[in-house]
Amino acid sequence: AGTLGDAAAGSGRYFGTAVAAGRLGDATYATVLDREFKMVTPENEMKWDTVEPSRGSFNFAPADAIVNHATAHGQRMRGHTLVWHSQLPNWVNAIGDANTLRTVMNNHITTEMNHYKGKIYAWDVVNEAFADGGSGQHRPSVFQNLLGNGFIEEAFRTARSTDASAKLCYNDYSIENWTDAKTQGVYRMVKDFKSRGVPIDCVGFQSHFGAGGPPASLRTTLANFAALGVDVQLTELDIAQASPTAYTATVQACLDVPRCTGITVWGIRDSDSWRTGENPLLFDNNGNKKPAYSATLATL
Ligand code: XIL
Repeated sequence: AGTLGDAAAGSGRYFGTAVAAGRLGDATYATVLDREFKMVTPENEMKWDTVEPSRGSFNFAPADAIVNHATAHGQRMRGHTLVWHSQLPNWVNAIGDANTLRTVMNNHITTEMNHYKGKIYAWDVVNEAFADGGSGQHRPSVFQNLLGNGFIEEAFRTARSTDASAKLCYNDYSIENWTDAKTQGVYRMVKDFKSRGVPIDCVGFQSHFGAGGPPASLRTTLANFAALGVDVQLTELDIAQASPTAYTATVQACLDVPRCTGITVWGIRDSDSWRTGENPLLFDNNGNKKPAYSATLATL
């Protein structure tokens, strides 16, 4: 197959990218997007600060532009993200009581999911709830601090009752190395959710890697989560300096795990990347294919 999307589809997987609404009018960007990618994640447009900048006032226009583009080009969507401590408007952080926050959180989930009902393959229901380092516990946030450990479960239950057709994912970074405490903390949560029937369908591994590429245990990590009965995906892949061998190792780890259902890179050209100066993507600033592109295509 001659494109990332077609090559991935050959094994029943998808290959996607993050998309910024403001770049859709860039002809080079749109050409590569529509040629190579079959799954789209809005880079910022579905986040709380954009979607509900003040309480009860919803702004779906930027994300709608991406969804409309994807629909017109046969691309599926990953919704990103409903509950996250970052890119969260101040009015949410300023809430001081649990009952108000619970109402606000659930209203945000139901309103955003209902707006896009039938158009989203998978939602990142909760993003980055676990702490870095050795604790294996949740990080502090207004949600954690007011609602306690149960906020993640509540978000997933609300999401399932809003849209029973969308896949519901937990998404995080630095959970790719199996022995890390953060990985183990997320694993324990997913195992607990599955054992108690809390609705969760998938785990997203962001996969923001340094120049050394993925941890050697990536395949093991993906396989161990999959064995809990969830799909796994690489959701925000980028690798400092984009060495072809690092991309190959990452893609191969997913291919080696039957329930690793897709890979999304976090942007198209290096000039589109949030990691300024690290050249971590598959296309150069002119939209030309880099060596990492060829390595990825050959691996898929
Ligand atoms: C990043 C975007 O790429 C930037 O444009 C924005 O300024 C900050 O957020 N984890 C995530 C993504 O889940 O939403 C983040 O995206 C990168 C880290």
